[in-house]
Amino acid sequence: MNEIKIGLIGLGTVGSSVLKMIIENSDKVQTITGRRLSVKTIVVRNVAKHRRQVPKDVTLTTDLNAIINDPEIKIAVEVMGGIHPAKEFVTALLNAKKHVVTANKDLIASAGEELAATAKQNHCDLMYEASVAGGIPILRTIVNSFAADYITEVKGIVNGTCNFILTQMQQQHWSYDQALMKAQELGFAESDPTNDVEGIDSAYKMVILSQFSYGAHIKLSNMSVEGISTIQQDDIQRAAEFGYTIKLLGISRRIDNGVFAEVGPVLVPQDHPLATIHNENNAVMVTGEAVGETLFYGPGAGGLPTANSVLSDIVSVTKNIVLGTTGHFFNNYQSSPSEIGNIDPKDV
Ligand code: NDP
Ligand code: HSE
Repeated sequence: MNEIKIGLIGLGTVGSSVLKMIIENSDKVQTITGRRLSVKTIVVRNVAKHRRQVPKDVTLTTDLNAIINDPEIKIAVEVMGGIHPAKEFVTALLNAKKHVVTANKDLIASAGEELAATAKQNHCDLMYEASVAGGIPILRTIVNSFAADYITEVKGIVNGTCNFILTQMQQQHWSYDQALMKAQELGFAESDPTNDVEGIDSAYKMVILSQFSYGAHIKLSNMSVEGISTIQQDDIQRAAEFGYTIKLLGISRRIDNGVFAEVGPVLVPQDHPLATIHNENNAVMVTGEAVGETLFYGPGAGGLPTANSVLSDIVSVTKNIVLGTTGHFFNNYQSSPSEIGNIDPKDV
């Protein structure tokens, strides 16, 4: 009873770091929560690929039912990515009364509201700190530290792959293709990097940030989204000559009749704080009416930083299990002011 057993879905860049942290940092978690974490079952696509890396007492399978039908497993961690079948998997897990922690922004931006409703019906937690800005604890910060302030703007660098590519193009004079290949090799990019480089990954994160910041349900189809795939070495060097750095920024702003949100490459003056964010690091600027401008910085991609965010959610769920306070969700889908919609950026 003093153990919390976990089912892991996905054992790639993030999943293998989550497994490592659970194994290596369990003592600290036990001190804080009084419960020991252990991974009981891991679901992957191809079992043969992972056999050597998985401890002998952990079941490795392709069958999600091994988690769904196991009453001992209390928390499921979805780190497989994509919208389908992740949505069906998470729905099934919640309906089986498993608390769910996920790093999947595609899923949460597209179906977060529906999944939160399923979690609520089942009195389960659904948490996803790692879905935005990797290792930066930005969702917690907005929920807790801006609880009473009115946020007016959230903007920043929220894709590690694009920031890594732009940094290498600027500092090492690498080609776009060379830099993208390295970002993939380092595990920063999605398995298909299209969403990274076309700005869609950043847009998903701005959807989630806007939900947390203003309770606004923004639709991706209403946002202007542009990526960095057409940026050439020449553009980077020309910008530098004029004192600018090209950064892919996500911007979301509260306006009179809704929320304006967009993603695109921006010429940032070299002395602006966002121009100094390099490699896979991210930075999120949150402006509140009372507090003014704040800036949160850290690794936006990579196995261990992301795993740290996943573990912070697992620890929160564990505390909720211990206190009997599960089902209160780590989001503000319930408190969304209904009058806030999204308006088409071209109307601004
Ligand atoms: P990877 O591609 O490295 O790993 C994906 C894992 O999921 C693999 O182990 C794969 O199995 C498994 N998987 C995929 N599809 C299925 C399926 N249908 N059934 C069972 N298992 C499946 O992805 P990442 O670890 O990089 O990313 C995971 C999630 O975390 C994504 O949502 C991503 O957006 C998010 N994220 C990633 C970050 C990063 O830096 N990489 C940072 C923040 C969030 P197999 O190995 O057998 O193919
Ligand atoms: N592919 C994503 C990025 C992972 O590069 O930012 C973190 O969400």
